[in-house]
Amino acid sequence: MLLDVPVSATDVVVLGGGVIGAACAWRLARRGLRVILVDPAPGSGASGAAAGMLAPVSEVQPGEEPLLRLGCHAAQGYPDFVRELERVSGVVTGYRRCGTLAVALTADDRARLAENRRLQAGLGLTVEALTGRRCRDLEPMLDPGVSAGTLIPDDHQVDPRRLLEALRIAATAAGVVTVQGSGTPERVDEALAGVRLDSGTLVRAPRVVLATGAWSRSVVPAVRPVKGQILRLRMPAGEHVLRRTVRAVVHGRDVYLVPRENGELVVGATSEDVGLDQRVTAGAVHDLLRDAQALVPAVSELELTGTTARCRPGTPDNLPLIGPSVVPGLTLATGHHRNGVLLCAVTADAVAAALIDGEVPEGPVRACDPRRPGPARSADIVTTGRDTAAAATAGRR
Ligand code: GLY
Repeated sequence: MLLDVPVSATDVVVLGGGVIGAACAWRLARRGLRVILVDPAPGSGASGAAAGMLAPVSEVQPGEEPLLRLGCHAAQGYPDFVRELERVSGVVTGYRRCGTLAVALTADDRARLAENRRLQAGLGLTVEALTGRRCRDLEPMLDPGVSAGTLIPDDHQVDPRRLLEALRIAATAAGVVTVQGSGTPERVDEALAGVRLDSGTLVRAPRVVLATGAWSRSVVPAVRPVKGQILRLRMPAGEHVLRRTVRAVVHGRDVYLVPRENGELVVGATSEDVGLDQRVTAGAVHDLLRDAQALVPAVSELELTGTTARCRPGTPDNLPLIGPSVVPGLTLATGHHRNGVLLCAVTADAVAAALIDGEVPEGPVRACDPRRPGPARSADIVTTGRDTAAAATAGRR
């Protein structure tokens, strides 16, 4: 149900209607809570721009084992999550167990690929070294200059726009009411009062889930926007230029190509620390196309159907913020950086458990406690509201 007039009270308000917010709303409603989801334009943030790679192995970085464990846990649960979601919503999400091929063009790229492979294998992940010829056997449209590769059989993909549609249908079917607008958590003294909508209305709720991605910075200053620009191309009907996700570092820049069953080829993505900027720039489009063509020359023949720029929600330690915050009643589900699509189900399960069972379940999601020590610690939560004691004192003066 979509409302433009707000309901005045509920069990929980979810702020943010991307994949994280929609998944949280669905799970909470399915467990019996009355849920209002607030978003000015659901799905118009990073979720609608994402390529949908489910890639904990490809994206692992030294020192980020907690994120890897969480990502692998989420990837293992994805088939069950998608099966249930598709059954409830009737929407095919485009989940494909296609694997990923990381490739190298130059000697420097080969060295970097080998170093990544050592890291991945050392962490017990399944990766296979390939010659350039073997890469072209798997993906015949790769440039002849591709000289080595790593096959990553467990990194798959989903179509985030379909996933979001499915989540929205499932959430609505479970009773979630969507209010189009923006809002801010509001407290009276130490207690959460609910969400103050931009219209001025207070939606009263004892619990609020903050899932506004990069925009959650206004409430959680530890979150920083990381701009990503992405292109959409169309492959000719029946001709699949690639079968699986292909990625590489070209001229020092990360590039990936994600082919979908429906003929779309997504090329991404930049990673820019430029604040909340959603402009597509000529330079980024040029670089992405040039790097994609260096890997797959046939890219130059494809129709360019769209360009998008959105902001990922980064955190200082690259781990999301999932669970109760220092403000009683305010639960965070943000900071997912490059992994929101991968982590939406485990986040939603953790949020539902925190709100309903009183604690985040044991497992890798516990590393995402927003109150954890270190630079990501979200101690400075910004809410609107009033302090009745201070107001009473001010009134006496
Ligand atoms: N997950 C890939 C990206 O954020 O670009």
